[in-house]
Amino acid sequence: MKGRWKILFLLVFLIPLVATVKVHAIENSECLECHGDVVDEERFKASVHGMNEIACTDCHAGVEKLNYEEDVPHPTPLKVDCSQCHEDEADSFQEGVHADLGDDGPKCQTCHNPHYTKYTASKLSFERNRETCLKCHDPEEGHEFLPAKKLHFETVGCSACHSKAGGMVRLIPYNILKEKPVSGEELAKALGVDPDALLERYDANHSGKLETGEIEKLIKDAEAKGIRFSLKGEIVSQADPSLHQIESEGISQCLKCHSEKAKIFDHVVLSLSKSDGSTADIPVDKKFLMSIYPIRFYMIDATRITILDIIGALIVLGGVAFAGGHCTIRILTIPLRRKKKEEQ
Ligand code: HEC
Ligand code: HEC
Ligand code: HEC
Ligand code: HEC
Ligand code: HEC
Ligand code: HEC
Ligand code: HEC
Repeated sequence: MKGRWKILFLLVFLIPLVATVKVHAIENSECLECHGDVVDEERFKASVHGMNEIACTDCHAGVEKLNYEEDVPHPTPLKVDCSQCHEDEADSFQEGVHADLGDDGPKCQTCHNPHYTKYTASKLSFERNRETCLKCHDPEEGHEFLPAKKLHFETVGCSACHSKAGGMVRLIPYNILKEKPVSGEELAKALGVDPDALLERYDANHSGKLETGEIEKLIKDAEAKGIRFSLKGEIVSQADPSLHQIESEGISQCLKCHSEKAKIFDHVVLSLSKSDGSTADIPVDKKFLMSIYPIRFYMIDATRITILDIIGALIVLGGVAFAGGHCTIRILTIPLRRKKKEEQ
């Protein structure tokens, strides 16, 4: 078929076809007439699927029409196959330890609420762990090799050690006094910029990432608007479908993280939460972590010289720190260091 004919074909046949399919599809409202007590319409609409106009019948496939003559107007059970649309995640999941566990193991909907799925990227790693892995596993078991378990499980997402997806360092704006993250959306709004456009605004040298000086500028600007924050660090798996391939053997080599050369430091982002639960992840130059390294190095005993020491500790920028002149960045644990010195 020649190009022009192809287009004509499309116009004449395919477009009306798509349109009719839409018209004849069963409306969500029909399903909700009977299932409104099971599925809350408003919450469904606010979910990622609702927002993307996924219909009940896109997931609950196999209902062509409703037969009101019957008590149950459609066949049961209705199978849900997430893999129609999320093939890569489903394939990775199949490669992992949880495949074929039946009712004992997790299914897609164990970790993702089927009707009210939200982006969960903006959650802290330990919240994600709690909503996913900790439903079934007690990490106190099986990690004998790992010291400082509480700290590790709070600052490292389970899949960062247990999946093929590489890990990355996330820096999250955090209010130490209120002990909770500062909303990235609010922060960006105060700065008069869209979260996704923040890099463009602050990347003065157009390097594609934020360097130390640029982050300092951002923090000063935010402070001028009355928003103060520190940065909380944690390690999560990169947002890649292969995070679903959970392996028995976790990462046991300490140097995969506790080393300046570790690959995870190639991926450092400033993670700004958005109201839909997704994040704008802005690349950060890893030297930003190094920039406080000398201070930290001085603080801790010499056996643990790693830039990782800043993760879990909060990086306090701005405020007091800026007042300190050349010493632009300080760490929350400075009082600890003083205490140690006094004890000596
Ligand atoms: C993203 C896919 C998806 C969409 C869209 C979806 N569902 Fe579901 N639904 C599921 C899954 C998965 C289950 C099974 C839940 C389970 O086993 O825990 C389910 C279960 C149900 C159940 C049975 C609940 C029970 O407790 O037995 C009903 C009824 C239902 N859905 C109705 C709807 C209606 C009505 C809509 C549209 C407003 C809808 N669903 C949209 C995935 C979906
Ligand atoms: C006239 C009422 C009615 C309508 C309309 C209706 N259902 Fe049902 N549905 C039922 C009844 C009755 C059952 C039997 C199970 C129960 O809820 O006790 C059922 C069961 C289900 C179940 C759980 C059992 C299973 O097979 O997984 C799902 C899911 C479901 N319906 C989805 C839908 C979807 C999607 C639509 C719209 C396309 C829809 N229903 C429209 C009455 C209805
Ligand atoms: C008919 C296609 C379709 C089906 C079936 C479907 N989804 Fe989705 N899903 C989507 C679309 C479209 C999005 C929005 C994609 C985006 O914003 O990147 C989405 C988004 C998601 C997200 C958030 C993605 C992110 O980037 O954070 C999750 C989690 C998710 N779906 C899980 C599921 C699960 C679990 C099932 C099965 C119960 C399912 N989906 C079934 C189409 C589908
Ligand atoms: C054991 C828990 C768990 C199970 C089971 C699970 N997921 Fe996920 N899923 C996650 C976590 C954790 C994330 C990352 C969340 C984030 O970064 O927002 C995620 C992210 C996603 C995303 C976002 C896009 C991406 O790849 O980063 C989609 C889509 C998704 N899952 C679909 C599925 C589907 C389909 C299944 C079933 C085959 C499934 N998930 C099973 C925990 C799970
Ligand atoms: C619905 C429950 C459930 C959830 C949620 C769940 N798992 Fe599992 N997991 C199991 C079961 C059951 C097994 C197989 C039996 C066993 O070895 O404990 C298993 C096996 C494993 C194994 C292999 C253990 C071994 O001995 O080889 C690892 C590792 C694992 N899960 C990690 C995770 C991680 C990480 C998450 C979150 C991303 C998670 N699981 C979420 C139920 C779950
Ligand atoms: C620092 C990396 C690391 C982190 C973080 C981590 N794991 Fe592990 N995990 C491992 C390693 C390594 C093993 C294998 C230990 C062994 O063989 O002795 C393991 C073993 C396991 C096992 C198998 C235990 C058994 O009885 O054989 C499960 C289940 C598990 N982890 C779940 C989790 C969950 C859930 C989380 C998050 C709360 C988590 N892990 C966080 C590295 C990690
Ligand atoms: C997946 C990355 C990862 C791996 C692998 C890992 N750690 Fe950690 N570790 C961290 C993070 C993140 C912290 C919390 C940040 C901090 O305060 O240094 C931490 C903290 C610690 C602490 C406490 C530091 C303090 O300030 O109190 C010790 C000790 C430690 N790790 C030792 C180890 C040892 C030993 C291994 C190997 C058996 C190991 N870690 C493997 C990421 C990792």
